[in-house]
Amino acid sequence: MSEKLVTILLGPPGAGKGTQAKRLAGRFGYLHVSTGDILREEVRAGTDLGSRVEAIMNSGELVPDELVAEIVGKKLARDTGNGILLDGFPRTLAQATYLSRISNGAPPVVINLKLEDAEVVRRLNGRRHCRGCGNIYNLYYSEPRKEGICDSCGEELVLRPDDRESVIRERLRVYRDQTQPLVDYYKTEGRYGEVEASGGIREVFDSVVQTMSRM
Ligand code: AP5
Repeated sequence: MSEKLVTILLGPPGAGKGTQAKRLAGRFGYLHVSTGDILREEVRAGTDLGSRVEAIMNSGELVPDELVAEIVGKKLARDTGNGILLDGFPRTLAQATYLSRISNGAPPVVINLKLEDAEVVRRLNGRRHCRGCGNIYNLYYSEPRKEGICDSCGEELVLRPDDRESVIRERLRVYRDQTQPLVDYYKTEGRYGEVEASGGIREVFDSVVQTMSRM
């Protein structure tokens, strides 16, 4: 992997990593790499990898580190534009060590989006995505014009299988257990900043950009 700037969005499920990553990639020309999106695409396409990970994802557990490392390694071997924006990776200390190895140890910029559990549950229960184009909506914050239908392509909006409340609680448990230790790791191994993610999308975006500019 060439020595490009690597930015990592950390934070619990539903903190807005994907929402902010799309905007940041658009503003700064970064390559946006979402391991969740890549894995869901494999499931949708019915590949061998997709069939191996579907049940794991639907239960809220993490996909094994070796599988995720292989996916990320392939993606980052390509030309990576102005830099790389990682969303949902790394999620374990083993993944962080792997990233450090393939990026030749250059310290990443790490933004931790902080959000209370009650708001995580609300946002994820309210999230709907389009079966056709993948656009994301929210029943509480960004409703489609017509209930259950995508504004852009007219396809049906659906709930992600892991956005049911019992699975959200499990994802939060897994986050605390396996991903939160990365906060201490990156406080020493990266350039680390925190952003309160409970404000509106625009407000959070501005805070992320400001925080990045100070790092
Ligand atoms: P993944 O897809 O990465 O799920 P996640 O980390 O749980 O994150 P989400 O996509 O649920 O939330 P987000 O923070 O991106 O929030 P969003 O912007 O969508 O992973 C899914 C699964 O794949 C994992 O459980 C695991 O099984 C597997 N996996 C993935 N990566 C892995 C890895 N590295 N290792 C092992 N396994 C892996 O926002 C949520 C909602 O809130 C949306 O409706 C949005 O419109 C709304 N919203 C966002 N921001 C705001 C705001 N400021 N105000 C109001 N509403 C907002």
